[in-house]
Amino acid sequence: MATFSFVSVRLSWYSLIFFGLVLTQVECLKDASIDRIFTEEELSSYIGENDGPIYLSVLGEVYDVSTGKDFYAAGSGYSYFAGKDGTVAFFSGEFEDTTEKKNILDYKPNQIAAMEEWRAFYEDHETYFFVGKLEGDFYDSKGHPTQYLNDIKEKLNIKEEKDL
Ligand code: HEM
Repeated sequence: MATFSFVSVRLSWYSLIFFGLVLTQVECLKDASIDRIFTEEELSSYIGENDGPIYLSVLGEVYDVSTGKDFYAAGSGYSYFAGKDGTVAFFSGEFEDTTEKKNILDYKPNQIAAMEEWRAFYEDHETYFFVGKLEGDFYDSKGHPTQYLNDIKEKLNIKEEKDL
């Protein structure tokens, strides 16, 4: 009897350790599927210096556009977009930073659609790829969409419904 309880206590300990290990693995897998979150400062270093990668952000989604260095590297026509979120410039064509912050919700749905088309361009591109999200206007520090992004998407949906 005493042997039996000794064995069962040992078995329970083994099962606890086993399930603990399984849970740790599951947590690791969950973490691995979480998007990388960039701060503005981190993103600003990806401008292709010393042949390093070039990242840009549109609507808070960060893409590696290193293969497009002829467009985005320093001194090229679209270098403005490198290392930052250029969402508004994708529509306005103004490739200069201003102190005045523009509210995307003030734009017409078809103007917002142009920004979304650029986002889709990067998402679908053969040699550019998604690398994470930018913490700021569109995503919070955990990568969840902000109310602002939800409102922008809602305005976009209204446009798509009207287009049908
Ligand atoms: C709102 C204004 C504009 C924006 C935001 C814009 C943005 C861009 C971007 C981001 C690229 C690079 C695409 C890539 O990574 O493959 C590009 C390429 C290009 N853009 Fe613009 N552009 C604008 C206006 C113009 C205008 C007015 C012209 C012509 C007068 C023009 C001519 C071109 C050309 C020729 C390319 C290269 C296309 C290729 O070789 O595949 N863009 N543009």
